[in-house]
Amino acid sequence: MTKADSVIPVLTIDGPSGSGKGTISRAVADALGWHLLDSGAIYRAVGYAAGMAGIDLSDAAAVTRCAETAKIAFRDPKDGGETRVIVNGHDATDEIRTETAGAAASAIAAFPAVRTALFEKQRSFRKAPGLVADGRDMGTVVFTDAACKVFLTASAEERAKRRYKQLKEKGLAVTLSSLLREIEARDERDATRKVAPLKPAQGAVIIDTTGISVADVVAHVLEVVRAVLPQRPAKGH
Ligand code: DC
Repeated sequence: MTKADSVIPVLTIDGPSGSGKGTISRAVADALGWHLLDSGAIYRAVGYAAGMAGIDLSDAAAVTRCAETAKIAFRDPKDGGETRVIVNGHDATDEIRTETAGAAASAIAAFPAVRTALFEKQRSFRKAPGLVADGRDMGTVVFTDAACKVFLTASAEERAKRRYKQLKEKGLAVTLSSLLREIEARDERDATRKVAPLKPAQGAVIIDTTGISVADVVAHVLEVVRAVLPQRPAKGH
């Protein structure tokens, strides 16, 4: 990291799947006019690239080579909507959002060498005027020097309901009970792995989003940023 990088503020937003990180991170980044890093999408993209290359996801060395060489790019959509995720030239935005892709990402994310391979790529998102970094280890590993750290959480039942609604809206066939089981299994794997397990960073502000509206959580996170960086008022808040 150069000296110039160290003065670019970072807000880390970590938490389990379905805690609202994606929606909240996007809204906060827009309000602040900052860049956004969706680190989960990078792990999902590597899992996808490995699958496309016919790599056995339990083969750590082969998956790591894939993490080192896969070309992963984020593109702003022309018509608003979801940021497109381009993997080796293919628009994989929809494929990487399935529960299977999430489970694959969680499995390959447990390999230390895969995490090392993706470390610098994630750090390269730190650009002026600031970065909102969404993930599991943003505050604990990737941006330990972040100015503000937030940990979002919610009950497993509430997170399963949110995922259910999102997937149904996309027309995918899912059941609430299977989603709850998958969420609990993924939480367990992400929180108990040896490297960079999911946990709040030291000093992180922990926000339980169960039963709280997106607007209220966004306002709370912006207050956290303002308390640390009062000279950076949010746009439109
Ligand atoms: O946030 P997400 O659901 O898109 O992440 C998918 C998986 O990727 C998650 O279950 C664990 C892994 N991941 C990680 O290990 N570290 C991150 N910073 C982000 C995601």
